[in-house]
Amino acid sequence: MTTYPKTAALMRRGTDFLGCETAIMCGAMSWVSERNLVAAISNAGGFGVIACGAMTPELLDREIAATKALTSKPFGVNLITMHPGLFDLIAVCRKHGVTHVVLAGGIPPKGSVEAIKEGGAKVICFAPTLALAKKLLRSGADAMVIEGMEAGGHIGPVSTSVLAQEILPELAADHLIFVAGGIGRGEAIASYLEMGAAGVQLGTRFACATESIAHPDFKKAFFRASAREAVASVQVDPRLPVIPVRALKNKGTEEFTAKQREVAALLDAGEVDMGEAQLQIEHFWAGALRRAVIEGDVENGSVMAGQSVGMVTKEEPAADIIAELMSQCEAALAR
Ligand SMILES: Cc1cc2nc3c(=O)[nH]c(=O)nc-3n(C[C@H](O)[C@H](O)[C@H](O)COP(=O)(O)O)c2cc1C
Repeated sequence: MTTYPKTAALMRRGTDFLGCETAIMCGAMSWVSERNLVAAISNAGGFGVIACGAMTPELLDREIAATKALTSKPFGVNLITMHPGLFDLIAVCRKHGVTHVVLAGGIPPKGSVEAIKEGGAKVICFAPTLALAKKLLRSGADAMVIEGMEAGGHIGPVSTSVLAQEILPELAADHLIFVAGGIGRGEAIASYLEMGAAGVQLGTRFACATESIAHPDFKKAFFRASAREAVASVQVDPRLPVIPVRALKNKGTEEFTAKQREVAALLDAGEVDMGEAQLQIEHFWAGALRRAVIEGDVENGSVMAGQSVGMVTKEEPAADIIAELMSQCEAALAR
């Protein structure tokens, strides 16, 4: 078996915490991170995370059970904080003895961190700023993911390199911090580990793994794309808030801009109120990711992808991707 002694030493705190061999997490990707990819990542020594997204507790129950049938290794579950059934979903994780719950999408509601920890699981949160990272750690989060705007999916405004420089020197010695966003090669992993990160989280690089159930056309769109085609959605009107999403430029991203203008005009004309206007904006993307990932409609759907998409050139087993990242990291650390 190949060993990566320098990498393993720097990842030790992360692997001890996650209970796996390499502190490389595959970030939850709605529709993509289901039983097959999650189990493949964990079986390959990484840490797979189920994307619960908008699943009902019943669906999550089934997904966890199915994942457990495919791997005996630890994996996590990513829950979106604004899910109306958050506490029921936490109960499902508890029933299955899920060891790690990742809370994404905003500040965890009161009692949620406690509810997860009472069940014996570890809590991982996202921190967009140093101040919030400190607050979440004080509130009981066991580890943090700091994710820069190079990432695929919903993003904040700051780059990974700046977040890492702001947060790692302050917190990494005493806390477990995983770095995400824009990581495509092991050399980048080495640099964040040397800055004190306990590990990393990647999404884009794993989305087209052989085990990923994403539609062949979704994968082809990734293989064709370059970094500059993975663009963040733009907010057109200050009254209509849009959380930026990084996805491949296509007809859908253009129509989203047009839709915002159309809704703003309706608002100006008094034909819709603010609530209805915001709802129309939100609904535009509902189902768009599913359309691209599952149905393969990469023209009108949302092909969420990070800037590292240019480094995704072919379908490979998850184990090969992890092995390549680890050997690149090891070589960089040995230099
Ligand atoms: C297709 C896609 C879907 C995603 N869906 C989610 C999600 O449902 N929940 C979440 O917390 N993050 C989501 N993400 C973010 C990933 O979990 C991960 O943090 C991110 O991809 C890391 O950055 P990278 O894309 O540069 O590797 C998604 C990313 C992609 C590419």
